[in-house]
Amino acid sequence: MKIVVIGGTGLIGSKLVTRLREHGHDALAAAPNTGVNTITGEGLAGALRGASVVVDVSNSPSFEDAAVLAFFETSTRNLLAAEAEAGVGHHVALSVVGTERLPDSGYLRAKLAQEKLIRDSSIPYSIVHATQFFEFAKTIAAAATDGNVVRVPPVLFQPIAADDVAVAVERIAVGKPVNGVVEVAGPETFRFNALIQRWLEAHNDPRTVVADPSARYYGTLLSERSLVPAGDAQLGAIRFEDWLRQPVPQR
Ligand SMILES: NC(=O)c1ccc[n+]([C@@H]2O[C@H](COP(=O)([O-])OP(=O)(O)OC[C@H]3O[C@@H](n4cnc5c(N)ncnc54)[C@H](OP(=O)(O)O)[C@@H]3O)[C@@H](O)[C@H]2O)c1
Repeated sequence: MKIVVIGGTGLIGSKLVTRLREHGHDALAAAPNTGVNTITGEGLAGALRGASVVVDVSNSPSFEDAAVLAFFETSTRNLLAAEAEAGVGHHVALSVVGTERLPDSGYLRAKLAQEKLIRDSSIPYSIVHATQFFEFAKTIAAAATDGNVVRVPPVLFQPIAADDVAVAVERIAVGKPVNGVVEVAGPETFRFNALIQRWLEAHNDPRTVVADPSARYYGTLLSERSLVPAGDAQLGAIRFEDWLRQPVPQR
């Protein structure tokens, strides 16, 4: 089966392309540096020729509110139009658990706009809602840092390893379209502040974490269950402590 992975050179995309090829699929890694650009349209029609499935795991180069909205709207419109032209039978997109619950986040408003375009299109689809990746803990800590203090709200947090996300997205991509959302999450639930504290300790980082219910997460206030799945999520297998023990180049 020919499967085009938009963002196939990124964190999730590169793992997904490797897995699909190991399982005998004709997986094409599509990204600007492989000659496929969903914003300009460069290389898109050629990449999609003969494809059965398109998986969109791309991300915006800028997380500024207007830029990220423009990225996901333009990219998704161009992609869905090219898929209709090519006769693609399944569009899979990776989005974020809680997207519909956190409208104060500019990034999640952009992901919601991406999802609406997908739902309103004629292409059968599956939207995968993942929780935060373990690999994202460093970026979260940096964004929440003020001096030597990292302020994080003590809400529930159920992150997942990028390897487990790739496993779940592959399973969904080779299956039938669900025309809805599938939630995926890690195997354990933590307090957000405790998880970030543990990441810092494991990296001998001297910053201290303060549990602050009023600390915003990318511009948005969080409640107890904002970041955890609403329903029965498919769970990954990799535990955070086991992931931390992996050598850094492998994670
Ligand atoms: N981080 C989290 O915790 C989290 C949680 C849930 C869901 N997600 C979602 O997961 C998805 C993938 O995230 P990631 O961390 O794997 O992303 P990433 O590592 O930043 O990779 C982004 C990919 O998008 C490609 N890309 C950028 N502009 C493009 C364009 N104009 N046309 C085609 N491809 C383009 C990049 O290609 P180049 O390298 O050539 O620029 C790269 O391959 C995102 O949609 C995000 O919303 C993330």
